[in-house]
Amino acid sequence: VSQSRYLEDLEGIKKLKANPELSSILCGKFRPNHFDGVVSIVNHFFELIKPDYAIFGEKDFQQLKIIEDRELLSGLAYVPTMGALHSGHLSLVAKAKELSERVIVSIFVNPLQFGPNEDFDKYPRTLDQDLTMLKEKKVDYVFCPEFSREDLEGIKKLKANPELSSILCGKFRPNHLDGVVSIVNHFFELIKPDYAIFGEKDFQQLKIIEDMSSSLNLKVKIIPAKTYREANGLAMSSRNQYLSESEREKAS
Ligand code: PAF
Repeated sequence: VSQSRYLEDLEGIKKLKANPELSSILCGKFRPNHFDGVVSIVNHFFELIKPDYAIFGEKDFQQLKIIEDRELLSGLAYVPTMGALHSGHLSLVAKAKELSERVIVSIFVNPLQFGPNEDFDKYPRTLDQDLTMLKEKKVDYVFCPEFSREDLEGIKKLKANPELSSILCGKFRPNHLDGVVSIVNHFFELIKPDYAIFGEKDFQQLKIIEDMSSSLNLKVKIIPAKTYREANGLAMSSRNQYLSESEREKAS
């Protein structure tokens, strides 16, 4: 690839600024923009390669310290969803954007978390509309796998902590929370996020995921987000569309 073509190819990548406190001294003082170029390309390659480790020589000590600067190379923030997105989901995306410059949303109606007589088949699926909403919010990546129940047979099946899963909603939905932790852990393994955002609306789910993450010693930080409500107080949920006007009123 010729040098000029190379530069053009890089026009579209995210341009980062090295931390000025670190980049305005030593070698950086004499090479303006040098470290901005370094962090931009390193971040771009991290996004493409998603490595677990990256090795930099101490010979270029200033470069090493600038790359280590976590605020600059902000991690990947992940919002897991089952689609049929509404303003509640968008508030999770806004929280993710506060944490990171790079946000990924997954959309997957997970068969493992539905019981045999539950609403898996009729669960609302609005992918085109979801993608438009995420594009408007400038989400960097959307992961919408088309795994069938059979495809999921091979994934690691986890058990939610029974102390937490045998009460509240879990009491009435056997295996539901096992299905949730299994898929969330699987997506964590695929996506390797630094942060994952879960709404407090599903408080039991949030606590069970926090428990899973700490007992498996996962590096992802679980970030809770406030419940987003309609004007009448009803917590926003994709399943609200099943409710009649009077049921909505009652639920609020
Ligand atoms: O809260 C949900 O929408 C789902 O339980 C989740 C976390 C996306 C897992 O399928």
